[in-house]
Amino acid sequence: MTDVALKHVAIIMDGNGRWANARGKLRYEGHYVGVQRVRDIAIHASAKGVKYLTLYAFSTENWKRPQDEVDYIMSLPKIFFSSYLKELMENDIKVVMLGETERIPKVAREIFIDAIDKTKENKGMVLAFAVNYGARDEIMHACKCYAEMVKNGAENDIDEDLFNGLLYTKNMPDVDLLIRTSGEKRISNFLLWQIAYSELVFTDTLWPDFTKEEFDKCIEEYKGRHRRFGGLDENSSN
Ligand code: IPE
Ligand code: IPE
Ligand code: MG
Repeated sequence: MTDVALKHVAIIMDGNGRWANARGKLRYEGHYVGVQRVRDIAIHASAKGVKYLTLYAFSTENWKRPQDEVDYIMSLPKIFFSSYLKELMENDIKVVMLGETERIPKVAREIFIDAIDKTKENKGMVLAFAVNYGARDEIMHACKCYAEMVKNGAENDIDEDLFNGLLYTKNMPDVDLLIRTSGEKRISNFLLWQIAYSELVFTDTLWPDFTKEEFDKCIEEYKGRHRRFGGLDENSSN
Protein backbone atom coordinates (compact mmCIF):
# COMPACT_ATOMS: atom_id res chain seq x y z
CA MET A 1 0.00 0.00 0.00
CA THR A 2 1.07 3.55 -0.62
CA ASP A 3 1.29 6.30 1.93
CA VAL A 4 -2.27 6.90 3.13
CA ALA A 5 -1.87 10.57 2.23
CA LEU A 6 -1.50 9.65 -1.43
CA LYS A 7 -5.10 9.33 -2.53
CA HIS A 8 -5.20 11.06 -5.87
CA VAL A 9 -2.60 10.87 -8.63
CA ALA A 10 -3.08 12.81 -11.88
CA ILE A 11 -0.95 12.34 -14.97
CA ILE A 12 -0.36 14.52 -18.03
CA MET A 13 0.45 11.71 -20.45
CA ASP A 14 2.69 13.56 -22.88
CA GLY A 15 5.26 12.60 -25.49
CA ASN A 16 3.50 10.08 -27.74
CA GLY A 17 4.34 12.02 -30.92
CA ARG A 18 8.00 12.48 -30.01
CA TRP A 19 8.29 8.81 -29.09
CA ALA A 20 7.03 7.87 -32.56
CA ASN A 21 9.17 10.46 -34.37
CA ALA A 22 12.29 9.20 -32.63
CA ARG A 23 11.58 5.75 -34.07
CA GLY A 24 10.73 6.92 -37.60
CA LYS A 25 7.09 5.98 -36.94
CA LEU A 26 3.92 7.98 -37.46
CA ARG A 27 2.49 9.89 -34.51
CA TYR A 28 -0.50 7.60 -34.23
CA GLU A 29 1.79 4.68 -33.41
CA GLY A 30 2.90 6.58 -30.32
CA HIS A 31 -0.71 7.07 -29.31
CA TYR A 32 -1.37 3.35 -29.82
CA VAL A 33 1.53 2.30 -27.58
CA GLY A 34 0.44 4.99 -25.10
CA VAL A 35 -2.86 3.16 -24.70
CA GLN A 36 -1.02 0.06 -23.50
CA ARG A 37 0.69 2.23 -20.86
CA VAL A 38 -2.71 3.49 -19.69
CA ARG A 39 -3.66 -0.12 -18.99
CA ASP A 40 -0.37 -0.91 -17.21
CA ILE A 41 -0.39 2.19 -15.02
CA ALA A 42 -4.09 1.92 -14.14
CA ILE A 43 -3.74 -1.69 -12.99
CA HIS A 44 -0.51 -0.94 -11.15
CA ALA A 45 -1.81 2.21 -9.41
CA SER A 46 -4.91 0.32 -8.31
CA ALA A 47 -2.78 -2.53 -6.90
CA LYS A 48 -0.70 0.04 -5.00
CA GLY A 49 -3.78 1.41 -3.27
CA VAL A 50 -4.17 4.69 -5.17
CA LYS A 51 -7.82 5.71 -4.80
CA TYR A 52 -8.14 8.09 -7.75
CA LEU A 53 -6.10 8.13 -10.95
CA THR A 54 -6.88 10.98 -13.32
CA LEU A 55 -5.40 10.80 -16.82
CA TYR A 56 -5.26 13.74 -19.22
CA ALA A 57 -6.23 12.12 -22.50
CA PHE A 58 -7.39 15.03 -24.69
CA SER A 59 -7.45 18.74 -23.93
CA THR A 60 -9.85 21.42 -25.11
CA GLU A 61 -6.88 22.74 -27.11
CA ASN A 62 -6.05 19.40 -28.79
CA TRP A 63 -8.80 20.02 -31.39
CA LYS A 64 -6.22 22.29 -33.07
CA ARG A 65 -4.35 19.19 -34.27
CA PRO A 66 -4.76 17.79 -37.81
CA GLN A 67 -8.16 16.15 -38.24
CA ASP A 68 -6.70 12.70 -38.97
CA GLU A 69 -4.77 12.76 -35.66
CA VAL A 70 -7.87 13.89 -33.76
CA ASP A 71 -9.88 11.12 -35.45
CA TYR A 72 -7.28 8.54 -34.48
CA ILE A 73 -7.18 9.71 -30.85
CA MET A 74 -10.99 9.50 -30.74
CA SER A 75 -10.77 5.87 -31.91
CA LEU A 76 -8.58 4.96 -28.93
CA PRO A 77 -11.40 4.50 -26.37
CA LYS A 78 -12.70 1.62 -28.51
CA ILE A 79 -9.24 0.03 -28.66
CA PHE A 80 -8.72 0.55 -24.93
CA PHE A 81 -12.04 -0.66 -23.58
CA SER A 82 -12.44 -3.58 -26.00
CA SER A 83 -9.04 -4.85 -24.85
CA TYR A 84 -9.09 -3.98 -21.16
CA LEU A 85 -12.59 -3.46 -19.78
CA LYS A 86 -12.57 -7.06 -18.52
CA GLU A 87 -9.36 -6.41 -16.57
CA LEU A 88 -10.73 -3.17 -15.15
CA MET A 89 -13.73 -5.13 -13.89
CA GLU A 90 -11.52 -7.83 -12.38
CA ASN A 91 -9.62 -5.11 -10.53
CA ASP A 92 -12.81 -3.46 -9.28
CA ILE A 93 -11.87 -0.20 -11.07
CA LYS A 94 -14.57 2.40 -11.64
CA VAL A 95 -14.35 4.51 -14.82
CA VAL A 96 -15.47 8.13 -14.89
CA MET A 97 -15.00 10.94 -17.37
CA LEU A 98 -14.09 14.58 -16.83
CA GLY A 99 -14.70 17.27 -19.41
CA GLU A 100 -17.25 18.72 -21.76
CA THR A 101 -18.58 15.55 -23.35
CA GLU A 102 -20.92 17.02 -26.00
CA ARG A 103 -18.14 17.71 -28.48
CA ILE A 104 -16.69 14.20 -28.27
CA PRO A 105 -17.69 12.17 -31.36
CA LYS A 106 -20.75 10.01 -30.65
CA VAL A 107 -19.00 6.64 -31.10
CA ALA A 108 -16.24 7.50 -28.61
CA ARG A 109 -18.72 9.05 -26.19
CA GLU A 110 -20.94 5.97 -26.24
CA ILE A 111 -17.98 3.70 -25.58
CA PHE A 112 -17.13 5.77 -22.51
CA ILE A 113 -20.76 5.79 -21.37
CA ASP A 114 -20.86 1.99 -21.68
CA ALA A 115 -17.62 1.60 -19.65
CA ILE A 116 -18.88 4.05 -17.02
CA ASP A 117 -22.14 2.15 -16.77
CA LYS A 118 -20.54 -1.31 -16.57
CA THR A 119 -18.09 -0.23 -13.87
CA LYS A 120 -20.40 2.01 -11.85
CA GLU A 121 -20.85 -0.43 -8.95
CA ASN A 122 -17.11 -1.10 -8.64
CA LYS A 123 -15.66 -0.09 -5.31
CA GLY A 124 -11.94 0.08 -6.06
CA MET A 125 -9.87 2.81 -7.68
CA VAL A 126 -11.62 5.54 -9.64
CA LEU A 127 -10.03 5.87 -13.09
CA ALA A 128 -10.93 9.30 -14.45
CA PHE A 129 -10.33 10.10 -18.11
CA ALA A 130 -10.07 13.80 -18.86
CA VAL A 131 -11.36 14.06 -22.43
CA ASN A 132 -12.16 17.38 -24.07
CA TYR A 133 -11.08 18.64 -20.68
CA GLY A 134 -9.78 22.15 -20.00
CA ALA A 135 -9.49 23.60 -16.52
CA ARG A 136 -10.62 27.03 -17.69
CA ASP A 137 -13.64 25.47 -19.36
CA GLU A 138 -14.36 23.57 -16.13
CA ILE A 139 -14.16 26.72 -14.00
CA MET A 140 -16.32 28.71 -16.45
CA HIS A 141 -18.84 25.87 -16.49
CA ALA A 142 -18.98 25.86 -12.68
CA CYS A 143 -19.49 29.65 -12.65
CA LYS A 144 -22.37 29.35 -15.12
CA CYS A 145 -23.97 26.59 -13.02
CA TYR A 146 -23.70 28.75 -9.95
CA ALA A 147 -25.16 31.82 -11.68
CA GLU A 148 -28.07 29.64 -12.81
CA MET A 149 -28.63 28.38 -9.24
CA VAL A 150 -28.74 31.94 -7.89
CA LYS A 151 -31.02 33.05 -10.72
CA ASN A 152 -33.35 30.22 -9.70
CA GLY A 153 -33.51 31.45 -6.12
CA ALA A 154 -30.55 29.84 -4.32
CA GLU A 155 -28.95 31.99 -1.68
CA ASN A 156 -25.77 33.74 -2.88
CA ASP A 157 -23.34 32.29 -0.34
CA ILE A 158 -20.74 30.42 -2.37
CA ASP A 159 -17.80 28.84 -0.59
CA GLU A 160 -15.02 26.47 -1.66
CA ASP A 161 -17.01 23.32 -0.89
CA LEU A 162 -19.95 24.46 -2.94
CA PHE A 163 -17.69 25.47 -5.83
CA ASN A 164 -15.86 22.12 -5.66
CA GLY A 165 -19.19 20.39 -6.08
CA LEU A 166 -19.81 22.21 -9.35
CA LEU A 167 -16.55 21.07 -10.95
CA TYR A 168 -16.25 18.01 -13.21
CA THR A 169 -14.16 16.49 -10.39
CA LYS A 170 -16.98 16.74 -7.83
CA ASN A 171 -16.75 13.86 -5.33
CA MET A 172 -13.00 13.59 -5.92
CA PRO A 173 -10.37 14.79 -3.42
CA ASP A 174 -7.72 17.33 -4.44
CA VAL A 175 -4.77 15.97 -6.39
CA ASP A 176 -1.89 14.87 -4.16
CA LEU A 177 0.62 14.14 -6.90
CA LEU A 178 0.67 15.48 -10.45
CA ILE A 179 3.05 13.76 -12.87
CA ARG A 180 3.93 15.06 -16.32
CA THR A 181 5.92 12.92 -18.72
CA SER A 182 8.06 14.00 -21.71
CA GLY A 183 10.16 16.73 -20.09
CA GLU A 184 7.71 19.60 -20.54
CA LYS A 185 7.31 21.65 -17.38
CA ARG A 186 3.90 23.15 -17.73
CA ILE A 187 0.31 22.41 -16.78
CA SER A 188 -1.36 22.89 -20.20
CA ASN A 189 -4.78 23.77 -18.76
CA PHE A 190 -5.11 20.66 -16.56
CA LEU A 191 -6.89 20.71 -13.16
CA LEU A 192 -5.91 24.26 -12.18
CA TRP A 193 -8.19 24.42 -9.14
CA GLN A 194 -7.48 20.88 -7.92
CA ILE A 195 -3.66 21.18 -7.98
CA ALA A 196 -3.46 24.23 -5.72
CA TYR A 197 -1.34 22.23 -3.21
CA SER A 198 -0.29 19.20 -5.28
CA GLU A 199 3.25 17.96 -5.44
CA LEU A 200 4.53 18.20 -9.03
CA VAL A 201 6.83 15.60 -10.54
CA PHE A 202 8.21 16.09 -14.05
CA THR A 203 9.97 13.22 -15.79
CA ASP A 204 11.78 13.23 -19.14
CA THR A 205 10.39 9.79 -19.96
CA LEU A 206 7.98 9.85 -22.89
CA TRP A 207 4.55 8.40 -22.10
CA PRO A 208 4.91 5.24 -24.26
CA ASP A 209 8.04 4.42 -22.21
CA PHE A 210 6.43 5.15 -18.84
CA THR A 211 6.65 1.85 -16.95
CA LYS A 212 5.40 0.70 -13.55
CA GLU A 213 8.95 1.26 -12.27
CA GLU A 214 8.85 4.88 -13.51
CA PHE A 215 5.55 5.33 -11.72
CA ASP A 216 7.05 3.94 -8.51
CA LYS A 217 9.98 6.37 -8.83
CA CYS A 218 7.51 9.27 -8.98
CA ILE A 219 5.79 7.93 -5.86
CA GLU A 220 9.14 7.71 -4.09
CA GLU A 221 9.89 11.32 -5.03
CA TYR A 222 6.46 12.31 -3.68
CA LYS A 223 7.14 10.52 -0.40
CA GLY A 224 10.31 12.55 0.06
CA ARG A 225 8.44 15.84 -0.18
CA HIS A 226 7.25 17.84 2.85
CA ARG A 227 3.74 19.04 2.31
CA ARG A 228 2.99 22.05 4.47
CA PHE A 229 -0.18 23.52 2.97
CA GLY A 230 0.96 26.95 4.09
CA GLY A 231 1.61 25.84 7.67
CA LEU A 232 4.77 24.58 9.33
CA ASP A 233 6.32 21.13 9.62
CA GLU A 234 5.17 19.30 12.76
CA ASN A 235 8.72 19.21 14.13
CA SER A 236 9.41 22.84 13.28
CA SER A 237 10.80 24.63 16.34
CA ASN A 238 9.72 28.14 15.45
C1 IPE B 1 0.19 13.27 -25.64
O1 IPE B 1 1.21 13.12 -26.56
C2 IPE B 1 -1.14 12.81 -26.16
C3 IPE B 1 -2.11 13.88 -26.42
C4 IPE B 1 -1.91 15.15 -26.22
C5 IPE B 1 -3.39 13.47 -26.94
P1 IPE B 1 1.47 14.19 -27.70
O2 IPE B 1 0.67 13.79 -28.90
O3 IPE B 1 1.25 15.56 -27.22
O4 IPE B 1 3.00 13.94 -27.99
P2 IPE B 1 4.11 15.04 -28.27
O5 IPE B 1 4.04 16.04 -27.15
O6 IPE B 1 3.78 15.65 -29.60
O7 IPE B 1 5.38 14.28 -28.28
C1 IPE C 1 -1.30 18.10 -22.80
O1 IPE C 1 -0.37 17.79 -23.78
C2 IPE C 1 -2.60 17.43 -23.08
C3 IPE C 1 -2.62 15.98 -22.93
C4 IPE C 1 -1.63 15.24 -22.50
C5 IPE C 1 -3.86 15.35 -23.25
P1 IPE C 1 -0.13 18.74 -25.03
O2 IPE C 1 0.91 18.08 -25.85
O3 IPE C 1 -1.41 19.06 -25.69
O4 IPE C 1 0.43 20.07 -24.34
P2 IPE C 1 1.29 21.27 -24.92
O5 IPE C 1 0.62 21.72 -26.19
O6 IPE C 1 2.67 20.72 -25.19
O7 IPE C 1 1.29 22.29 -23.83
MG1 MG D 1 2.42 16.91 -26.31
